[in-house]
Amino acid sequence: MTEEYYKEITIEGIVPDLFPDVAVYLKTGVNNYMLYKPHGRKLTLDDLDRLQRRSSEYIYVRTGDMEEVSAYQEDNLPNLLGNKELKSLVKGKILFQICADYAGELIEAPPKVKEVERCRNLIRQIIGFVAHDRDAMAALKSVTAENPYSVVHGVQVAALSLLVHARIFPKITGPPLEDVGIGAILLDMGMALADSDHGKSSGSLSHQEYQMMKLHATMGHDFLNRMGVFSNIALAVVHYHHERYDGKGYPDHLSADAIPRGVQIAALCDTFTALTTDRGYRKAVTTEQALQTMEGSKGAHEPALFKSFEKIIREIKY
Ligand SMILES: [Fe+2]
Ligand SMILES: [Fe+2]
Repeated sequence: MTEEYYKEITIEGIVPDLFPDVAVYLKTGVNNYMLYKPHGRKLTLDDLDRLQRRSSEYIYVRTGDMEEVSAYQEDNLPNLLGNKELKSLVKGKILFQICADYAGELIEAPPKVKEVERCRNLIRQIIGFVAHDRDAMAALKSVTAENPYSVVHGVQVAALSLLVHARIFPKITGPPLEDVGIGAILLDMGMALADSDHGKSSGSLSHQEYQMMKLHATMGHDFLNRMGVFSNIALAVVHYHHERYDGKGYPDHLSADAIPRGVQIAALCDTFTALTTDRGYRKAVTTEQALQTMEGSKGAHEPALFKSFEKIIREIKY
């Protein structure tokens, strides 16, 4: 698969002088890449102008250079999100790319990225983006249309959970809020580990697939827990995002207040995001239809919390 060898980078977000000195490629066909600039020469403003004139949206780097490029992108993210000239859509796209790369690297090379601070920085950027940019959620949502569900889902759930959490519990800020976001962005990580990506399947789920899927919460939790760097709340979000308020969820049949509030919020956002996104086996429904479905699913969520959630979703015109 090509994606294993080249990573796409959105040109609009690149600061030429700061971009690391790595070989840069252009895509010339489905599986074809052409060297644009070798290692040893800086990417210049002229390069970027020229590329944009030929309406290239992306450049590509080898995955071997990705660590260096990720570090640059993560350092540059606050400037980029604060840049008033850039459209929300571009910001959303770049933020999403960086988060998706982080999640990918976490699965492929855990020891390199086990520092939770990297994730925390990304979460802080998402908190700022959704709090200050009215079009942030719409921008992130439009990214979902162009990328596989399994990749975008966590970013989407994290952004929505952080926004909803900050509105319901405005006094909870800093690390306790960030930890909910860290859990939310990684919540379906077990799917990739179980290799039973429900986003890719084209028919309805078979019984066996469903059983596999049920394992993802525990698998994701155990994987992250072994790294020994994630907080209890982040781990709880991953472990318990499929628990239900009435105790009929999985994996531990927790009920009511045994499910931490941050987890309950992430669970609401997870369900809502899943319903309003196209999946292999069914089409997205509208915001109102999703809220109705959730309302009808009695016992899944704490009623007062659901009411607040519903109000926020309508307010932000998601
Ligand atoms: Fe899940
Ligand atoms: Fe999910």
